[in-house]
Amino acid sequence: MEVVIAPAEELAVLAADAIETLLRRDPATVLGLATGSSPLKVYDELARRHEQDGLSFDRATGFMLDEYVGLTEDHPQRYRNVIETEIASRVAWPADRVHGPDGLADDLPAACAAYEAAIAQAGGVDLQILGIGTDGHIAFNEPGSSLASRTRIKTLTRQTRLDNARFFDDDVDQVPSHCLTQGLGTIMDARHLVLLATGRHKAEAVHQLVEGPISAMWPATVMQMHPHATVLVDDAAASRLQLGDYYRQTFESKPGWQGL
Ligand code: GLP
Repeated sequence: MEVVIAPAEELAVLAADAIETLLRRDPATVLGLATGSSPLKVYDELARRHEQDGLSFDRATGFMLDEYVGLTEDHPQRYRNVIETEIASRVAWPADRVHGPDGLADDLPAACAAYEAAIAQAGGVDLQILGIGTDGHIAFNEPGSSLASRTRIKTLTRQTRLDNARFFDDDVDQVPSHCLTQGLGTIMDARHLVLLATGRHKAEAVHQLVEGPISAMWPATVMQMHPHATVLVDDAAASRLQLGDYYRQTFESKPGWQGL
């Protein structure tokens, strides 16, 4: 696991560099997309590169991590719509190449199985962007999630619903109580995991993710088992890391050509 501690703008550039490298090498790259505020600067940077440098998403495929159950098709917080607004529309990504679990399906388990099959059919995810919840969840894999889980329906914790109420007029009752989410096993199949976290409120989750024991109580800790995981954090989110100085020194002495 590589930990990079830098200002948020630099973290976004690093993540965008990794994505651009993949897209330039193979325009049919498969990208894993996250919602939430953490990846927004990365999406801004990709949109800028699309406009100014012609970075193309025409042949790329996107798979979202998760989706709320039951939000109507036109609901602005439906994750499919959030991804359309925050990244897909800004980089002219063909709509039929960006996929998400279907939170409006009559048969939710079948929708989850179909989603797993679609990811496999696409050859798996090359690079998965991730954020982390204050309780250590990734995607919507709440504490207690099986470390081997696949895409399935989950119940959101009260804490996650409170954290996300800011997107729903600060009204926790408007936040759905269920979601469909890629499982931890699904996420672990991606070839490169790139997690972004900023702010002091993420410091404990980041400490557990990087330095804690692997445990379903902090679901993101499963990433310690991934052969290519990158954790991009600002000073505040890094403030509880025991080996912060070591991570800083390691990144400073890394050759520039190496990438993430
Ligand atoms: C939500 C999303 C996660 C995201 C997390 C953190 O629960 N399902 O994918 O990582 O929130 O959100 P934020 O980046 O806004 O802090």
